This record gives sequence, structure tokens and C-alpha cells, in this order.
Amino acid sequence: MINFFKKKKQEAEKKNEIHPFDKLDEIPAHVAIIMDGNGRWAQKKLLPRIAGHKEGMNTVKKITKRSSQIGIKVLTLYAFSTENWRRPDPEVNFLMQLPVDFFDAFVPDLIKENIKVQVIGFTDQLPAHTQKAVMQAIEDTKNNTGMILNFALNYGSRSEMIEATKQIAKMVKDNRLDSEEIDETIFESHLMTASLGDYQEVDFMIRTSGEERMSNFLLWQNAYSEFYFTKELWPDFNEQSLENAVSVYQKRHRRFGAL
Ligand code: FPP
Repeated sequence: MINFFKKKKQEAEKKNEIHPFDKLDEIPAHVAIIMDGNGRWAQKKLLPRIAGHKEGMNTVKKITKRSSQIGIKVLTLYAFSTENWRRPDPEVNFLMQLPVDFFDAFVPDLIKENIKVQVIGFTDQLPAHTQKAVMQAIEDTKNNTGMILNFALNYGSRSEMIEATKQIAKMVKDNRLDSEEIDETIFESHLMTASLGDYQEVDFMIRTSGEERMSNFLLWQNAYSEFYFTKELWPDFNEQSLENAVSVYQKRHRRFGAL
């Protein structure tokens, strides 16, 4: 086994990559990120807010690749919340175009890295061009078996739970389920994250930009996760920032020989 780890390390070093086996002994399986601070990043540079979102998209590419390389199984990114519609139209329009540009440019890399795209959120309310780009990316990567890149697009956790409740209530009404049978497993199976299977629960939640709130993000799924808040603005967050965050997670998780 030691030789296997050594070989992996040498291979990774040759390719100038890090790998899960040298210092990273316990990788969080499901990492969720609230990518905050794009607007402030742009403001600091006297640029329009959308310039921050554009740079934020480049950060998504970097962090996706590195997450997959270090062995994360699911990376959920909060790209647009159900509350974000309240922003000025030009900004909303820009944010709706981002997935189109992102997938146009990045799907070949996702295929190369064996990354599978999934989505959670009320996607039927997105503009047609955004829906089309997302659905095409899901289709193009559906046979990939590596990390799941899970975009939260028009996602809100409270609405997600209300929808789940409605579905369960209907099953009870139609006599397909006894109300006494409702438990956590049944509830979870009606959440948008159900397709993540064993990785439905978040292990590690990261929020950038110094804000320390959950903002209606995966409230059920974060019940037992570790939280990590960093002052870095999302466009400044990079591979090293991710590794630092994962190291903090691992320190919290050190078992010191105990179970
Ligand atoms: C929060 O920053 C960020 C968003 C609402 C949008 C996040 C989107 C991206 C990072 C790009 C997504 C990329 C793809 C591929 C979909 P903010 O605008 O609230 O920043 P502020 O708090 O500094 O104003």
C-alpha cells in the first residue's frame, strides 16, 4: 500500500499536480461553496460588478479542476439563488449568460477530467438559453464517472423543502404512503439533491468574502457539515485557498487514533 501511495505521489509531482495521498488523508466527499464577493472584487478595482462575475467564472474553472484532482466526490456551487432575481436586470442577464459561456468553453476540459455536470434548483424558471446550455452540458458529461460538478441555479433551500413536503403530502393523500412512515430517508429522497445518492449530505461548506451566513443554501444537507469562512473574495480564491481550507477540515477531523 505504501508503494502505491509513493507511486501516486511521484506521478502527481511529475504532472505538477497534488494528489490525495501525501498530506490529504481525509478528503471531504461533498464540498459546497457559496461563491461570494464578486461585486466587491470588481468595486475594489473600479470595474463594473459584472467584471467580478466574469472573473468568478474563471475561479470556478480552477476550483473545479483542483477539487477533482484531490479526490472530492461532489462539488456543489451556489451560482444563483432564488433571491438573486432582485438584482438589476442587466446583472441578472449577465449571470444567466455565464453558464452558456462557461459550458461553451469548459465542457471539453470537463470530459477530459471525467467530471459529470448536474444541477439543482428551479431550472424551469431560467431563460431558455440558460436551460439549454445546462441540459447540453449534463448530456455531454453524463457518462463521466469522476467528480460531480453540481450547480445550484435558481436554488433556494426553503422552497426545496416545501416542494418535498408537497410531494410527500400528495403521496399520503393518494394512499401511496402512510404518514407514520415519513422519516428522514423519505424526506431526503424528495430533495433536489436525491440524485447525489450517498453524497447527498454536505461534509464541508465554504463561504468566501467574510460573510458568515448560510443564505438559504442546503439547509437540510448542511445539518452536520463543517463550516469554513474566509475573507478572500471569490475571484481571488485559488487552488492554494482550496487546499488550505481542506487542511483546516482535516485538522478538525483528526481522530488521533480513536474512532
Ligand atoms: C455573489 O457575489 C455571487 C453571485 C451571486 C454569483 C456567483 C456566480 C459566479 C461566481 C459565476 C458562476 C459561474 C458559472 C459557471 C455559473 P456578489 O455579487 O453577491 O458579490 P458582493 O457580495 O461582493 O456584491
